[in-house]
Amino acid sequence: MKVSIVGAGNVGSTTALFIANSGLADIVIVDILSDLAKAKAMDISHALSALDSDVTIQAADDYKEISGSDIVVITAGLARKPGMSREDLLKTNSDIVGQIVLKVKESAPDSIIVMVTNPLDSMAYMALGLSGFDAKKVIGMAGVLDSSRFTQILSENLNVKRSEIESTVLGSHGDLMVPLLSKTKAGGRELRDILKPEQIEDILEKTKKCGGQIVSLLKSGSAYYGPAASCFKMCKAILNDTKEIMCASVYLDGEYGLNDVCIGVPVRLGKKGVEEIIEVELSKDELADLQGAAQALKENNKCMKQTE
Ligand code: APR
Repeated sequence: MKVSIVGAGNVGSTTALFIANSGLADIVIVDILSDLAKAKAMDISHALSALDSDVTIQAADDYKEISGSDIVVITAGLARKPGMSREDLLKTNSDIVGQIVLKVKESAPDSIIVMVTNPLDSMAYMALGLSGFDAKKVIGMAGVLDSSRFTQILSENLNVKRSEIESTVLGSHGDLMVPLLSKTKAGGRELRDILKPEQIEDILEKTKKCGGQIVSLLKSGSAYYGPAASCFKMCKAILNDTKEIMCASVYLDGEYGLNDVCIGVPVRLGKKGVEEIIEVELSKDELADLQGAAQALKENNKCMKQTE
């Protein structure tokens, strides 16, 4: 199997390392800074023997080399700087991602696109439109990361093992994420039976803000271990055709009463990409929050179209 990664920066190279370590697929890395891609591919290739991995990894100057990819992961673009929201990246990253998607369409028309570049719900929506790919084959990475962050913060606060926490986070990646409290359990118990409403609110706030906190602490660049691990989890489900359910940003055509938007919902991932969109029952508030997030995304998508 073959995975191409466009963007050899922090998220792209860490994703490459996770895939290399898994031995699941040969890897091609592309970056506008071709020496950076070469350096990362060479460095990771030097880890392969120590990792007992038989995959190959190479940097490509030409998009022709991504042909035959099962998955193309797009991580190219600017990362946030302190004080920036993901939406502040909309114009710059849509220009970058737009050009890349056209090249992916030409060189790897049968691939599945996993979009990581922020603001990723809008980038996934644009990629779908520009590529003309089947909606099952354009998938944005966020829900896995948001759930993973939520689980970690719950685990730290409740002193419960991560493996005993069930959490699902829908919506858009950012302040408008929609954690499903009714479906969140720690040690088999519902959150509202263990925590006071203000404690739950505090944990939710931390989950929403932790990406920005990392940006402030790093001073240059944004989070990458969490995003790369989440992207890898999605690639693994697709490559191994596991049909696992996880949250991802996908195009909705009537599901949850929403249309013409890419937004985070639970999906089943397998070798065809999105094998099923799962419609879980939402409380009135959760549905209203999801609709609010979709509305905000549609506004961003409209801005993006106007500036194209
Ligand atoms: N084609 C190919 N690569 C490009 C292009 C382009 N047109 N434009 C930029 N790049 C490359 C940069 O050269 C850089 O190596 O994208 C890479 C981005 O890497 P980083 O700056 O390290 O950013 P990273 O932390 O990896 O984040 C990338 O993922 O999680 C999101 O918000 C994050 O949008 C950001 C993206």
